[in-house]
Amino acid sequence: MPAKRQAVEREIASLREEIRRHEELYYVHDSPEISDREYDALLARLIELETEHPHLATPDSPTQRVGGRPAEGFAEYVHRRPMLSLDNSYNIEDLRAFDERCRRLADGRPFEYVAELKIDGLSVSVHYEHGTLVRGVTRGDGRRGEDVTQNVRTIRSVPLKLKTTPEQLEKEVEVRGEAYLPRAVFERINLERDEEGQPRFANPRNAAAGTIRQLDPKIVAARRLEMFPYDVIAGERKPFSTHWQSFEWLERAGFRTNPHRALCSTIEEVINFCNQMELKRDRLDYEIDGVVVKVNSTALQDEFGSTSKAPRWAIAYKYPARQATTQVLSVVVQVGRTGALTPVANLQPVLLAGTTVARATLHNEDEIKRLDLRIGDWVLIEKSGEIIPKILKVVESLRTGQEVPFEMPTHCPVCGGLVVRPEGEVVSRCVAADCPAQLKQNILHFASRRAMRIEGLGEALVEQLVETKLVRDVADLYGLALETVAGLERKAEKSASNLIAQIEASKSRDLPQLLYALGIRHVGERTAMLLARHFRSLERLSRATVEEIDDIHEIGLTVAESVRDWFDDPGNLELCDRLRKAGVRTEMEEVAGASASEAFAGKQFVLTGRLETMTRDEARALIEARGGRVTSTVSKKTDYVVAGEEAGSKLDKAQSLGLRIIDEAELKKMAGVDAA
Ligand code: IVH
Repeated sequence: MPAKRQAVEREIASLREEIRRHEELYYVHDSPEISDREYDALLARLIELETEHPHLATPDSPTQRVGGRPAEGFAEYVHRRPMLSLDNSYNIEDLRAFDERCRRLADGRPFEYVAELKIDGLSVSVHYEHGTLVRGVTRGDGRRGEDVTQNVRTIRSVPLKLKTTPEQLEKEVEVRGEAYLPRAVFERINLERDEEGQPRFANPRNAAAGTIRQLDPKIVAARRLEMFPYDVIAGERKPFSTHWQSFEWLERAGFRTNPHRALCSTIEEVINFCNQMELKRDRLDYEIDGVVVKVNSTALQDEFGSTSKAPRWAIAYKYPARQATTQVLSVVVQVGRTGALTPVANLQPVLLAGTTVARATLHNEDEIKRLDLRIGDWVLIEKSGEIIPKILKVVESLRTGQEVPFEMPTHCPVCGGLVVRPEGEVVSRCVAADCPAQLKQNILHFASRRAMRIEGLGEALVEQLVETKLVRDVADLYGLALETVAGLERKAEKSASNLIAQIEASKSRDLPQLLYALGIRHVGERTAMLLARHFRSLERLSRATVEEIDDIHEIGLTVAESVRDWFDDPGNLELCDRLRKAGVRTEMEEVAGASASEAFAGKQFVLTGRLETMTRDEARALIEARGGRVTSTVSKKTDYVVAGEEAGSKLDKAQSLGLRIIDEAELKKMAGVDAA
């Protein structure tokens, strides 16, 4: 074999191994060793080599997660062993009855239960041959599912290659689990769907199901599905003698398992776990609808057997739905950044899952029609996945005849401009170019913490700036004089000069923050980061074609077109120009010199408490850009603990371990940035 080819093969193999290791550190252990940028560079190099040498591409290469061509439709796949459902129980008595049945079947032999979370997603089955992922299938009707291999490959917590395959699993092994969308992703998708005029997903489960059946794997990759495995099958049998051992193997093999599970010797311990988890439910970043209780011993599972629908050795304990009934007092219409009109119901306040609920979004006109909702109606509301509860239905039996139907306004409630609902869309928008409501939302977004972070520019002040016409677009902020701000109502001299200083400081935010701040449709924080990394300047991005943008890993056509549309508007180009002239940074910050980029190489940091001049994300970026790594727990391996104000237990722990504790100024000094 020619030496050059050998060298390429070696480089590909070592890149794959390295990328896999970093993916596992990131997705499975939540403890990355390299920055996103370094990871992207490794992946880009691998893509380059595989494109140049297509015969060396393999299905288990990390590049396969990127999302290939859209499928025509999905092929049917018949499960070798049916994917059963579970019997449900809704109260503790049901659980005790299940326990009694199991004890009867076990006939005096001792046994244990495993209690684990019932994730609210959809079940998928992932097949490996000789340790390589070869197929991913949905549950379908339990007998026949759909082959969604391309999409399953995009789930980063599912290894493309198993790390360990004991002999009996060597040839083939099937891992079943629940694919789901984290709450934050679910909310983001629904916001995007609102903007695109598509109907919202009712809950994370529907969204996950809609995602896994997406024909375009690129969209799937961008949505970030996750999976928690719960079963291992080799051929037609279970390869381990207990369910608990399956979890241990799954972890060794490179899966991310759910950390909340308990091995219980009595049903009382199971009940205790169910109650504990119900309290923690709201703090998880994914939805659960209960706990699954399984007999641990595989031999007993086989003995107990299954009905045609569900196993006799397992049961789902379902948590009560978080619903309540209340009255709609009024419906108001809010105007968003893009002019979208959102009707919101003001409710008679009611207690639901620990919080008082007084409002529910009605999304759009069609949703109100679908519900046939009238002002004064009694409604059933539910909290599921989203932070804002939703209205499930009107309680018609409580109608008095006094209820008043709601009409979508024909004119903007803020500026009186015309409201238009384009054919085929569900969103009504105020189309007035100078609508102050849109402008206010735009400015608030521009100044928000994760965008240009102009502290002190709150709602009341923005209201005044817009109403007095001192600010007609975000670039005007940079022309504000101290006297003008100080002259505004209720503005003390000191806070006015603070604000001016904040506006000045915002000029040096990095390109990803600026791109996000501009409020281009479909450009959230992550997309802004991807765009900034790729194009490195606002100017270059403004000249990019749809194809060039669409070519970026994880960015799809809708986003690419939206970005191009935004820059095609001469008004927006002029805005960019004025921002640049005002001194706002429009180029990606380059880490100065090799020494700076290596300053924190291999060092582990923990951030605790409130920092003075930076957000946590900024501090993290600063550290990562210099080769350091930020973790969330203090341990002996931690090199520096950066302590801000009101630092708590992490600081105590750092002190007790005798670790090096530094403040923000020292961090900046070490990083080689001006600490002034
Ligand atoms: S075990 C034969 N474990 O719940 C055992 N299922 O209502 C089958 N689910 O179809 C499933 N989390 O989609 C099991 N930890 C878990 C689960 C789980 C969620 C889903 C699964 C199943 C449905 C049954």
